[in-house]
Amino acid sequence: MTEPALRETRDAPLANTFGIDARARRLIDVGDVDALPAALADAGRDALLLGSGSNLLIVAPDVDAAVHVSDARIEMIEASGDAVRVRAAAGAAWHDFVMHALAQGWFGLENLALIPGTVGAAPIQNIGAYGVEVMDRIEAVQVHDRATGETRWWPHDACGFSYRDSVFKTDPQRYAVMRVDFRLSRTPHIHLGYAGIGEELQSMRIAEPTPRDVADAVIALRRRKLPDPAVIGNAGSFFKNPVVDMATADALLAVHPGMPVFRAGDASQRKLSAAWLIDQAGWKGHRDGDAGVSPGHALVLVNHGHASGAQLLALARRIAASVHQRFGIDIEPEPRLIGARW
Ligand code: FAD
Ligand code: EPU
Repeated sequence: MTEPALRETRDAPLANTFGIDARARRLIDVGDVDALPAALADAGRDALLLGSGSNLLIVAPDVDAAVHVSDARIEMIEASGDAVRVRAAAGAAWHDFVMHALAQGWFGLENLALIPGTVGAAPIQNIGAYGVEVMDRIEAVQVHDRATGETRWWPHDACGFSYRDSVFKTDPQRYAVMRVDFRLSRTPHIHLGYAGIGEELQSMRIAEPTPRDVADAVIALRRRKLPDPAVIGNAGSFFKNPVVDMATADALLAVHPGMPVFRAGDASQRKLSAAWLIDQAGWKGHRDGDAGVSPGHALVLVNHGHASGAQLLALARRIAASVHQRFGIDIEPEPRLIGARW
């Protein structure tokens, strides 16, 4: 028997890794991604398109309608020389896709292992970790435009990718990602540039790592550094790392010589560490009721139990105000806020 294309549940809980209690009056699950445009039209202009809820802070907990894609099909659609073009539907779980690609000998995604979420959400904020961003591997994105009703493939260069951003993220109610095409390689190209992976491989006593070893090192690092949402609610990094001009970075470095500074996409800019700024401002491990800052990583806001989205947002605002006061730097949230504006 085939799965029905659309399945509707009334008064359904909205899954989110912060563990915030939220519900949708109607939740429509899309088993065949080609039925997504019809589901969105039926659910209405304001319906929330939800992946696995790992990059959301739900401030208004009652949503009228939400749509979720569960179509997880993955296929290799072209191979030429070393390159393979692999197509994944929006509902595929990101980490499962990474591990499936590795098992097939399609390399290039190993540094992005264990990032929560779905394939459909990956291009939205151009997910990245350990020196690789997903835009480096994306060939094209199949997008349904909820404003015009048009569905078409957007080539990489039309997507406006940058650090934790894309055209899609700037207008979240408009663009629905149906499928993503990735260009991967049958020859491994190992990326160990990011501090930490090399040390991890050394401690694993691996001198000539395979892509699988890199994935294992990234998984071990992530498990050590980041709190597990199954144990304590969180959405990963709550703030983006601020990107500033060189003069601003130099002025801060003159006062705080130990401050970490990283290269940004644009050679004239520098990326600062939001974790370091928040840590220095004294917030690591801080708790306001059930809303808190992880004691293990200053960039991760956590829900110790029953914090509401509004309480977490209030804490985030206090943190940002104190970082601004201390360093003159504005930090902005990375997750999407549902029912509130920053
Ligand atoms: P959701 O949270 O459900 O949605 C996020 C946004 O995408 C919303 O605006 C939603 O409307 C939109 N969206 C979802 N699906 C679609 C679709 N098909 N079409 C259009 N819009 C859609 N991110 C990183 O970049 N790097 C990391 O290292 C990283 N680590 C994390 C670690 C932890 C512990 C957690 C909890 C999160 C982490 N994240 C990281 C953030 C998160 O994993 C990513 O942003 C992920 O892509 C979100 O996927 P999702 O399916 O859960 O999206
Ligand atoms: N640091 C502190 N205090 C802390 C934690 C870190 O001072 O409590 C300092 C460390 O000294 C380090 C620096 O902050 O020099 C950077 O820390 P880390 O390597 O943990 O990286 P990050 O900048 O906090 C970013 C991404 C992560 C991604 C990792 C690995 C953003 C907003 N976050 O974190 O992505 O997994 O690098 O590449 O870019 C996410 O987006 O949700 C996410 C988890």
